[in-house]
Amino acid sequence: MKKVFVTGADGMLGTEVIKSLRRDSAISVVPSTIADMDITNLAAVRASLERHRPTHIIHCAAFTFVDTAEKEPLRAYQINAEGTKNLAFFCREFDIELIYLSTDYVFSGEKREPYLETDATGPINIYGKSKLLGETYIQALLEKYKIVRTSWLNGLGGDYTRNFIETMLRISETRSTISVVNDQTGRATFTFDLAPMLTTLLDVNAYGIFHVANSGICTWYELAREIFQIAGRTDVTVHPILSEQFRSAAKRPTYSVMSLKRTEQLGLRPLPEWRASLREYFRRREFIAQSLNLPPQVAPSPQAMRL
Ligand SMILES: NC(=O)c1ccc[n+]([C@@H]2O[C@H](COP(=O)([O-])OP(=O)(O)OC[C@H]3O[C@@H](n4cnc5c(N)ncnc54)[C@H](OP(=O)(O)O)[C@@H]3O)[C@@H](O)[C@H]2O)c1
Repeated sequence: MKKVFVTGADGMLGTEVIKSLRRDSAISVVPSTIADMDITNLAAVRASLERHRPTHIIHCAAFTFVDTAEKEPLRAYQINAEGTKNLAFFCREFDIELIYLSTDYVFSGEKREPYLETDATGPINIYGKSKLLGETYIQALLEKYKIVRTSWLNGLGGDYTRNFIETMLRISETRSTISVVNDQTGRATFTFDLAPMLTTLLDVNAYGIFHVANSGICTWYELAREIFQIAGRTDVTVHPILSEQFRSAAKRPTYSVMSLKRTEQLGLRPLPEWRASLREYFRRREFIAQSLNLPPQVAPSPQAMRL
């Protein structure tokens, strides 16, 4: 029987990972939040892992505020790099298999064809650098590990109101024209597609780095247009702009499309095309709103989502 310990269990991805794992009766699940184990506290990590003795860890906890990381680099490094090192250290001591969630932002974005797992990294912001250092610690400490790089995550768990879809919908409440960058290309990914893939990966007898994202590519502008089209918001105009016209603390790669060939070659089913999953996102959101007796355009609070 596998015993899977999930860090960041109340985050956007973590909540979906817990749901996916619980669907498998051969897995016992240990959800872990910052309240019961702060990953930056070595003693707390040891105590928790010693108590639970999991066979696997799916490490979703992270500092994910990409712009704030530029102003608070120490915090980003402490959580994303040192916190990950703490986990890797005890995975080695207690012989636990570690699956670490990483990001497309470990790449510089200069390539113009999909990044392979073996391509050189070169992060251009603090968040990407801190996540990459997390990868480096794992590779230094463990012989067998799974580093899963994903990108542009959206989902209905955790504080989901921070995600791109909800941000667009919120801005549209006060503006009818929204400017969105059209010179950053990537793969939009959905937590309800990624989480079952992580469950599947537990049984995959291959190690190292894996790129996992939904199929198809888009720019943020194209993603925004599709959001308003699916939401039936013909009153909103999306205007394409360049990154240099949008002020943000962190630089982002202009091209961070990851190649999905490795998982395909391992026989793993590709995740759906992003547009299909975007429609699924709205179906799920509406279903939750209906069950809470809210009008479909109202975003349920993250607390209500957890009920
Ligand atoms: N979001 C994206 O677009 C994206 C893209 C690529 C990769 N990823 C990666 O995917 C993973 C999941 O991302 P997500 O969007 O689900 O993140 P999220 O919603 O921000 O969740 C992260 C979780 O980590 C917890 N956490 C933060 N500091 C911690 C600490 N010191 N100890 C224990 N827990 C701590 C947070 O708790 P609090 O909320 O209480 O602080 C939160 O529950 C992360 O590794 C992220 O780097 C995300």
